[in-house]
Amino acid sequence: MKALQVSKVTKSYGEVPVLKGVSFGLAAGERVALMGPSGSGKSTLLNCIGGIDRSDEGTITIEEQSLEGLDENELCRLRRESVSTIFQFFHLLPTLSARENIEFPLQLAGLEGAEREERVAQLIDEVGLSHRADAMPDELSGGEMQRVAIARALSIRPHLILADEPTGNLDTVTGESILDLLAELSDAHGIAMVLVTHSESVTRICQRTLRMQDGVILEEIATAG
Ligand SMILES: Nc1ncnc2c1ncn2[C@@H]1O[C@H](COP(=O)(O)OP(=O)(O)O)[C@@H](O)[C@H]1O
Ligand SMILES: [Mg+2]
Repeated sequence: MKALQVSKVTKSYGEVPVLKGVSFGLAAGERVALMGPSGSGKSTLLNCIGGIDRSDEGTITIEEQSLEGLDENELCRLRRESVSTIFQFFHLLPTLSARENIEFPLQLAGLEGAEREERVAQLIDEVGLSHRADAMPDELSGGEMQRVAIARALSIRPHLILADEPTGNLDTVTGESILDLLAELSDAHGIAMVLVTHSESVTRICQRTLRMQDGVILEEIATAG
């Protein structure tokens, strides 16, 4: 089964076309890097795939469910249950500890008691943060904050994770360790990933790289990962 199929997607803001017919697919567990200059439409595309924004035309299909037919509640459910996003600036809730940030989507999903606690403990362990579980976001380094965000993204057990410049606010060494972690988790759990990036080094963990410019995908190349 395909994790994602994007077909002929267009999107304008007012009169300005931002996506001009974007198509690509992603197999289950596959990782693709999405590169291109600032303003080329990468974040807009990711937001449309993640149900944060809506495309104008074309289709986006996630696990055989087409987003176009979904109303706001159903899109919201998609974000809560099926697709996770990781951001450059982490987007952690500042008043919640690392553990509570990771737990939050599971509370929304109605997972209770021991099962929730076990899942959270396992996630914290998987991202290597057991010793920092009770720290608040402002006590964490950038790399640690991104690990919390990754554990939170994993909590709902998605088949697709979208990452918008996940290493963009990290130093090189920390960024590399975050990429290693993403590749490891994607392989371990069969999670497909779209990684938007300015960094060529992201291509090392991706099977394919898409180059975007002015709202279209100009070229697609096979890469190392
Ligand atoms: N909410 C918005 N309203 C109006 N224009 C927007 C909005 N979001 C993005 N844009 C415009 O769309 C274009 C693509 O932006 P974006 O998708 O953020 O590009 P990228 O992520 O590749 O840098 C830019 O010209 C940007 O100014
Ligand atoms: Mg962007």
